[in-house]
Amino acid sequence: MSLPRKAKAAEATVAGVAAGSMAGKEAWIVFTPSGRRGSFPPGTPVLDAARSLGVDVDSVCGGRGLCGRCQVECSVGEFAKHQIQSRAENLSPIGEVETRYSERRKLKPLAEGRRLSCQAQILGDLVIDVPPESQMHRQVVRKAAEHRDITLDTGVHLYYVEVREADMHEPSGDVQRLLQAMESSWELRNLTFDTEILPDIQAALRKGDWSVTVAVYDGRHVIAIWPGFKGDGYGLAIDIGSTTIAAHLCNLTSGEVVATGGIMNPQIRFGEDLMSRVSYVMMHPEGSDELTESVRAGINDLIQEVASEAEIEVEDIVEITIAGNPIMHHLFLGISPVELGSAPFALATDEAINLWAPEVDIRVNKGARVYVLPCIAGHVGADAAAMILAEEPYLLDEVSLVVDVGTNAEIVLGNKDQLLACSSPTGPAFEGAQISCGQRAAPGAIERVRVDPDTLDVRFSVIGSELWSDEEGFDESIEAFGVTGICGSGIIEAIAEMYLSGVITEDGVVDGSLAERSDRVIPEDRTFSFLLHDGEHRIVVTQNDVRQIQLAKAALYAGVKLLLDRAGIEKIDRIRLAGAFGSHIDTKYAMVLGLIPDCDLDKVASAGNAAGTGARIALLNVAARREIEKVVREVRKIETAIEPKFQEYFVDAMAIPNKRDAFPILFDVVQKPAPKSVEAGESGRRRRHRRRTASSSD
Ligand code: FES
Repeated sequence: MSLPRKAKAAEATVAGVAAGSMAGKEAWIVFTPSGRRGSFPPGTPVLDAARSLGVDVDSVCGGRGLCGRCQVECSVGEFAKHQIQSRAENLSPIGEVETRYSERRKLKPLAEGRRLSCQAQILGDLVIDVPPESQMHRQVVRKAAEHRDITLDTGVHLYYVEVREADMHEPSGDVQRLLQAMESSWELRNLTFDTEILPDIQAALRKGDWSVTVAVYDGRHVIAIWPGFKGDGYGLAIDIGSTTIAAHLCNLTSGEVVATGGIMNPQIRFGEDLMSRVSYVMMHPEGSDELTESVRAGINDLIQEVASEAEIEVEDIVEITIAGNPIMHHLFLGISPVELGSAPFALATDEAINLWAPEVDIRVNKGARVYVLPCIAGHVGADAAAMILAEEPYLLDEVSLVVDVGTNAEIVLGNKDQLLACSSPTGPAFEGAQISCGQRAAPGAIERVRVDPDTLDVRFSVIGSELWSDEEGFDESIEAFGVTGICGSGIIEAIAEMYLSGVITEDGVVDGSLAERSDRVIPEDRTFSFLLHDGEHRIVVTQNDVRQIQLAKAALYAGVKLLLDRAGIEKIDRIRLAGAFGSHIDTKYAMVLGLIPDCDLDKVASAGNAAGTGARIALLNVAARREIEKVVREVRKIETAIEPKFQEYFVDAMAIPNKRDAFPILFDVVQKPAPKSVEAGESGRRRRHRRRTASSSD
């Protein structure tokens, strides 16, 4: 929120400048934590003193004792460092306005020791602390998986203003009197008033008894109006994924996430993966509009959900930021994705876009603004831009690899010297699709697997239970849902453990000879499967499952190799795995499989929903929008589909972990299995038969 402009700035005598001449008449005041200090005549409101010294103190109501944003605390005692004796009585006693404030806010009255700085006056020397929540540019505390703190500096600010009543003797429009009041109260000149909200101004002014709160976008446009005083405005950061749509609802004053929600992308009924949705559009003339309507309807449902969770009205939402892959980006904007379905994968635009919410049928405050993050290339979208914003590889000396592991992996490599990006068609195998017992990550899905290399016994855990399958109480703990399948992170662990225990070779072939010593190795047609669990649902990893994962991980790794090649980089210092799948896989097993390159395991971590975080950063900090717009222009885009070396790297990466790359850092801490080779397609029976035949002919 903005500093109040109405209060007249007191004439500060800043420390060290002509202080002596006013000594005796004026009181010294020091603000912490900024350390700013100055002397002021007795009776000066603390907020005025803060303003004149450039101390960061928030206000929405312009010093009327309504918003409570300007709270401060008097630090009492002898402050030798500042040569100040700060006493409680050096601040004016709590007055009527503050008492009324506490009475109105029964649930959150002024806490002990807290004062409204717009009301409390300086009577003598003081040390005044400005708590973080009263600072306009406060740091928003980051969440565990997030890399950066966010400095709050939103695009939309709220202002409370009292407007001159309509008067027949001095006729003028309501808008004009409102804009005059904004200029005199807040020194905001040359504001425009959105025509979208023109129908609302008359009712708002009269209902609010000629006082209203307005939302100003970009310091120039009045975009929303409410009668009377309104303390909080809200913003939404939305990540449109092909499978799920996620939203963070944030209080634009505090930066706090007040509700988070997610829904399945309703476009799924037009096709599970992106390309099938593009095919749908190609085959149906109305397809693009249907998909656009579908995603916008989904977003509107999600908005209702998060707004009711936070107990706010959707009209309180005044700004939205959007991240999404190029196809989601185009469909949300009402642009056909057909050009993105084939070479040269041309985007309609790769620049950031600013819109009004009604232009994209989003039902929030009708003056709300929508900011869509820029795309990078035809396969590397606004979600990758948001991921870059969240992870900031462009600021680091270390070489970072940031991967969003989805049906299309988006890969970013580099550091402060250069940044490259590409996408790789990994397919849906990592999400459990195309896997015989695959399922979405839900209760009952196997997510952790261990295979004993000596006995080939298996133990596992499932989503919904904390226990391993060989622990007491496991059966009871899963009674409600059972063991129903295997999710993406589970299949990664299962196959990596099968490799480490010798069940599969480095070429990914299930070793049928092991059927002689373990019932878990089961002949199936001409290949073998490995049994993880036998119950109501029989959960196996088939030879084809292994192949699907090999294909997916080889595509991802080949993309990384291409970027390394082009960047002339040999060593990656840190790896961040983003997206729902990337957040759940065990990084060690991902590396054992050769899904990600060799790197110190301590330097490999999840980035959580980095695209969602990036969208939230863009929502809360307008400078971050300019920053990412600049960074994406400098990213070198690599198109894997036309790179001749991609195929070569892909073939090498089909091996586990890799035919050519030795993974020395990994195998320093993980026991590498002895190399073995088994011919694919041999059934145990045929092998045994051949062995018998061979021995009989000896
Ligand atoms: S500035 Fe709003 S209560 Fe003090």
